[in-house]
Amino acid sequence: MSNNQKIAWDNSYRLGIKKIDQQHKKLFELVNRLYDLEEGVNTKEELRVILYEFSDYVKVHFQDEEAYMASIAFPDLENHKLLHQHLVDSLNKIILTPAKLDIIKTKMRVLAKRVLIDHILQEDTKIKLYVLQNCDEEIFDISDIE
Ligand SMILES: [Fe+2]
Repeated sequence: MSNNQKIAWDNSYRLGIKKIDQQHKKLFELVNRLYDLEEGVNTKEELRVILYEFSDYVKVHFQDEEAYMASIAFPDLENHKLLHQHLVDSLNKIILTPAKLDIIKTKMRVLAKRVLIDHILQEDTKIKLYVLQNCDEEIFDISDIE
């Protein structure tokens, strides 16, 4: 039952910006570890480790993505930073609110979908389009796109 809550990576989520794509993929892997957990003796500690690892990596990823956007003079950077901050706030709220494993899993699934799918497709894709229109191939690894 727990396995089918996993969030599948799809190649349509690739931006063609290697470092960001790799980090997005790793975020999928990290959050999916949550759905291997079952109620049990050590679950609380395991849950804590997974949530903090995901949360730490989300923050590293957002910082790297923001630095990348700054490096290419992405015009919508400030707005994109705000969206990142909202996602971090929602994540912190889940982590800091005590709840049963099932509830946390469900909330995390909703959040992970927002962070990993909606945000990539609706917002990060704008970075890709900007790079395609304004930058040369040196910073856009087009060979990685199907
Ligand atoms: Fe983003």
